[in-house]
Order: sequence, then C-alpha cells, then structure tokens
Amino acid sequence: MAPLPISSIRVGKIDDVQELIKSKPNKVPERFIREANERGVLVSHKTHLHHHIPVVDLSKLSKPHTDDDFLFEILKLSQACEDWGFFQVINHGIEVGVVEDIEKVAKEFFEMPLEEKKKYPMEPGTVQGYGQAFIFSEDQKLDWCNMFALGVHPPSIRNPKLWPSKPARFSENLEGYSKEIRKLCKRLLKYIAISLDLKEERFEEMFGEAVQAVRMNYYPPCSRPDLVMGLSPHSDGSALTVLQQSKNSCVGLQILKDNTWVPVLPLPNALVINIGDTVEVLTNGKYKSVEHRAVTNRERERLTIVTFYAPNYEVKIEPMGELVDDETNPCKYRSYNHGDYSYHYVSNKLQGKKSLDFAKILN
Ligand code: OGA
Ligand code: NI
Repeated sequence: MAPLPISSIRVGKIDDVQELIKSKPNKVPERFIREANERGVLVSHKTHLHHHIPVVDLSKLSKPHTDDDFLFEILKLSQACEDWGFFQVINHGIEVGVVEDIEKVAKEFFEMPLEEKKKYPMEPGTVQGYGQAFIFSEDQKLDWCNMFALGVHPPSIRNPKLWPSKPARFSENLEGYSKEIRKLCKRLLKYIAISLDLKEERFEEMFGEAVQAVRMNYYPPCSRPDLVMGLSPHSDGSALTVLQQSKNSCVGLQILKDNTWVPVLPLPNALVINIGDTVEVLTNGKYKSVEHRAVTNRERERLTIVTFYAPNYEVKIEPMGELVDDETNPCKYRSYNHGDYSYHYVSNKLQGKKSLDFAKILN
C-alpha cells in the first residue's frame, strides 16, 4: 500500500461509472471499450457444469488430525491449491451477522452521493480511498467498477482520513469483520502448511505482523457488458485473498483455467479464497496464483468485499527450503522483501500475472 509520487502521474478524465449510468444509461464512453481480444463475454454456466472450483468444508478441518474427514478435506485443499489456486470455503465459522453487516455498510457507502464519497479520494498513484486503482496513463482503458480500498492492519498502514464517517457504522463493522477474516486467514495458512507437509505454524512464524487490506468493488450494471471489463485480468499480490460476494450476487468473477475463463458461481454463505503471488513464490510454484477478472451484467449490479492478507513488508520472501531441491525441483524465484514486491505490484497496471516477473528466475 506504499504511495507513489503523485506529481508524475497523469491519468486523464476518469468517469465515475455509477454517475455515468445515472445520466446516460445506454452510453459506454470510449475509454471503457476494450479491444476485441480483451472483452469479457459472459460464458454460459451450463458449459461449465463440470468445471466448478472446489468447495472446502472447514468444519471437517476442525476435527482431530487423525480423523478421516480431516485427512480427506486436507487432500481436497491441497488439490484445490495445486490445480485451481481458487476454492470456496463453507462452514467457516464467521457469523452470518458479521458478513451481512459489512455488506450493508459497503452497499450504503457506494450508494451515497458522489460528493460524499469524494471526501475519501484515491489519489493517482495510491491504492487507498475511493476511485479506480492501477491507472497510470491518460490512454489506459478503465474498468467498469468503483473501488473503495483501505489498509487495515497493522495500524501503521492505515490512513485514518480515508475511514469514512458515513455510513455511521462503517468503521465499527469493518473492524469486526477484519478481525474475523484475519483469524480465518491464519487458520487457512495452518491447513495449507499441513497440506504441504510443513509445520503448522510455518507461515505464521515467517509472516510477522501480517499486512491486511480490504477493497470493496462495486460493479454497476452495464448496457454493453460485452464491450467492457469489470476488473482487468490479474493475479493478487497477497499471500491469500478472501472474497465475499454480496448476497444473491450474480456471476461476475472468472478464473483462467486451462486457457478458458471459468465463472465462479456464488454459493450461499461461502467465501472465495485464492492463492496470491506470495504463496506461489514461497511454495516454489507448487501452489500458483491464478489469473482472474470480473465481468459485468446488463441488469444487475454486483458488490464484492475483498481482503488481501500478506506478510509484513519487512519479511524476506523466497521459496521455502523444504520445497526446493537442486536436483529435482530447482529454485524458480529470487529472494526479495515483501514491501518491495508490494510497491512493484501497486505501481504497475493490472496485467495478468506480469507482476510476478519481478520474482522469477529466468533461465
Ligand atoms: C480483486 C478481485 C474480483 C471480484 O479485487 O482482486 O479479483 O469479483 N476481485 O470483485
Ligand atoms: Ni483479485
């Protein structure tokens, strides 16, 4: 979440998509229209009936480690991480009220008048506040999305001026939600360590005071979803990402699997988890971050609340010794500070998995 020098960046005019559809519901400005090969056609769900991202039941992972249910679910988790980089978790133990409360204030936030939201602007080159992130030039195409992003933990990454006073319970609900999601991430990293035959605390011990940020993405309906993109294809720079789709959300998230964009069908009370670039490096590519994007819908809006969980900026990242073997599985990534990767990630536009070139050892 490190800010860039603002003065050097010219981003041109960025239309607020919610305002656009209020004033001209059928118009899609040129800056949102993608090249033909970049457009986000919505794939029919039927063609993907056999192509679901895995579902992991966390209640089974609370059982004793010798229990068959536990062992089966760990196997499922390891396959999900290895083959998909994405899975949904059910029975995650976070109370429905907590999930509903954050969704409510997020929705209310985006529904406020633009003048109110503009009190918390995302300045060019920064990634916190309200607006569009990852825009670095005047001719860069824009996503059909409004974002509101905040650093949450540790307190040093917070920008208190950007925490909104309205809706009234926004900060309180976000605090409560973030605590729960943090616990979930710690839990998931334990299971992921077990699935890799590592010591349970392996990630936790390495991560130090983990960095946690949240981004709320609001995708208004678009009269021409075939021409625009909700969120450009990218992988996440985090270790893990937790994505909550609003209740009764339409399909919007797609992941790239075997060169096909596969939709992630929302499941009631489930959270979508994905492996970020950092876990890809730490596992020497055994568990990979997967490219994903969001498409829009002609009639319906969509809201997602996304938490990025990552090591402390000071932490040195490199493939873990246990997962490297000079003979059979040589080291594929160099070592670096997580803060440097984070800075690299936010100072470049979203472009598939390109950010990871930063860490790859090319031979
Ligand atoms: C993200 C992301 C997808 C979505 O915020 O990194 O991938 O469906 N969001 O909002
Ligand atoms: Ni993402």
